[in-house]
Amino acid sequence: MRDPRLVAAPSTDAPTASVTFEYLAWATVWLLTGTTIGLIASIKLHWPEFLPFAWLSFGRVRPAHTNLVLFGWSSLVLVGLSLYVVSRTSRVPLWNPRLARIALWLWNLALLGGLVTLLAGVNRGPQEYREWVWPLAVILATAVLIAGFVAYRTVATRTLPEVYVSNWYILGGFCYLPILYVTSYLPFYQTGLGNTVVQGYYMHNAMGMWFTQLALGVSYYAIPLLLGRPVYSYALGVLGFWTNLLFYPLIGAHHFIFSPTAWWLQSTAILFSVGMMVPVWAGTGNLLLTFKGSSGAVRRSYALPFFVTGLIGYGLSSTQGTIEAFRSANIYWHFTNFTVGHSHATMYGFIAFIAWGAVYGLVPRLTGREPNPLAVGVHFWLALVGVLTYVISISVAGILQGFAWVSGQSFIASVIAAEPMWLWRTIGGLLMVGSHVVFAVNVWAMRPQRVVAPAPSPDVVRIPA
Ligand code: HEM
Ligand code: HEM
Repeated sequence: MRDPRLVAAPSTDAPTASVTFEYLAWATVWLLTGTTIGLIASIKLHWPEFLPFAWLSFGRVRPAHTNLVLFGWSSLVLVGLSLYVVSRTSRVPLWNPRLARIALWLWNLALLGGLVTLLAGVNRGPQEYREWVWPLAVILATAVLIAGFVAYRTVATRTLPEVYVSNWYILGGFCYLPILYVTSYLPFYQTGLGNTVVQGYYMHNAMGMWFTQLALGVSYYAIPLLLGRPVYSYALGVLGFWTNLLFYPLIGAHHFIFSPTAWWLQSTAILFSVGMMVPVWAGTGNLLLTFKGSSGAVRRSYALPFFVTGLIGYGLSSTQGTIEAFRSANIYWHFTNFTVGHSHATMYGFIAFIAWGAVYGLVPRLTGREPNPLAVGVHFWLALVGVLTYVISISVAGILQGFAWVSGQSFIASVIAAEPMWLWRTIGGLLMVGSHVVFAVNVWAMRPQRVVAPAPSPDVVRIPA
């Protein structure tokens, strides 16, 4: 029998369905492009003569990779899903899908401009994730503001009195990213130690106040929906939201432990990195406990295993981050490949898996078409084995590098020690890129039909009174 607290949502209207799908389709294009470029970067580290062209030199392909996978894939897929979630949880069609589409095209324009300029060697210097020249940053910021405004207006026109917890996270992310992005481009923060502090602030808050917020917002909608039961604890969801906001903005300086930045600032960042365990485990625990007693549903579903993996990825890799922030650990791991392992454990093991779970769980409801379950299984296993191979090998490389440096060996000794691991990273990367090709085929299989079919199963989510 259905839980009386579950409220049936109306089936999706065609404009909301098609604009959502367009975001997801473009995100998939950037996933394929961005990770193929990542693979080229990876190969170059153990085979430097591979593709010896200036446009494809390591210094250019690295930022091209990071910007495409962060602003192209991860952002667009989560924005597309978020626009759908705000509309469903507000029980209204998306407010102004046309404006949402304009935001998508501006976003794509910025990404294409970013790709071409970075490969041509036109950039703002070594400022990670803000290498694009400012006109492109302005276009991206405009796109974010427009998409955020559409999300806000949709929630503002809701037919229910409550704002469901998903929307707190999603609107929070949309409020925070513009502040972050504008701060990082302010002219007086571009030099000296101020630049370093802002770099840490920007880098980590992009992860915690944008990707994490949107991924959790989407999870708080999709997981209860797919399981057909309310979230384990609404209060824990709200606690996670507020403590994320409390602790995250002050942890940026943990990127520069032992640097010439103020010692007290570093210590504050370490302390707040420990505080981060509250929202991380409130979120992970709450969402995993929602699965309690549903192992049968997980086995039968092709979307839920992605969510379970993503949540475990969130809890474990964030805990790894907290450990990495301590001075005693950071002295070994900072500047090493260990951080690259953490980046992929989080951005892939958490964010990408949650996004895939939501795409497979929600898109058939909005287009009426399902992918081939076998192909989804192939995607899942290639991605999981690929990312495990990547993260384990590159973390081992980081540990070897750290020990070599701390014990005072020559730099080349650390390169020789790490080289076999770079080859393993490429093998993992090949599996990951292979899984993305399968994902693209699955997205195509779920494309909207000319007439949008009604949702195949009742679309339910608990909106507490
Ligand atoms: C409790 C939560 C977390 C803590 C305390 C934490 C801690 C850290 C630390 C200390 C570093 C810098 C390591 C160094 O350079 O020495 C780092 C890097 C990084 N973290 Fe986390 N992390 C957390 C969660 C996350 C999450 C959820 C994401 C992604 C959604 C993420 C993405 C990254 C990325 C991409 C980097 C590399 C940044 C760069 O240098 O380019 N982290 N993290
Ligand atoms: C959705 C998928 C992916 C995301 C979100 C992602 C994200 C990132 C991030 C945030 C960094 C910067 C790391 C840091 O500075 O700590 C990075 C670097 C890198 N990524 Fe990825 N990545 C993805 C997939 C891949 C794949 C499939 C490969 C293929 C092997 C790859 C290869 C690399 C390489 C070689 C670097 C440079 C590492 C270095 O400088 O030593 N990435 N990626």
